Amino acid sequence: MSRNITLTMIKPDAVSKGYTGKIIDHFITNGFKIIAMKKLKLSDTKARSFYAVHKERPFFEDLIKFMTEGPVVAAVLEKENAVESFRETIGATNPADAAEGTVRKLYAENIERNAVHGSDSDENANIEAHFFFSDIEFC
Ligand code: CMP
Repeated sequence: MSRNITLTMIKPDAVSKGYTGKIIDHFITNGFKIIAMKKLKLSDTKARSFYAVHKERPFFEDLIKFMTEGPVVAAVLEKENAVESFRETIGATNPADAAEGTVRKLYAENIERNAVHGSDSDENANIEAHFFFSDIEFC
């Protein structure tokens, strides 16, 4: 049976400000189980590949510059209805629109430097989880 997962990255803005611990605690407090996690610096090539779906967007080059400016923390999280539940936990893409108490409301700077990534579907969660991790790392 496949597991109910989502993929998150704590982005360079939040990592560099020292929010990693607080954000991970927020995930756990909201019922997510960490089944894989690593800190890494995305290469230009890896960032372009991860965000390929946005390559025609006007913000794409800025996004790649931002996502490669420093380390990220990537994690696979498990919970019932993981994708939808996690999107509620992190709040709207633009922190100005995010609900009170969400990760982005608490820690994000703006629509680009928005502290965390969350998968947008079960299919993409599986693809994104395997972008960073192999099955043997899920525990
Ligand atoms: P994320 O959930 O990782 O998915 C794509 C990212 O692109 C998004 O978070 C933001 O970091 C960035 N992004 C989305 N929309 C915009 C926008 N209008 N302007 C700048 N950056 C954006």
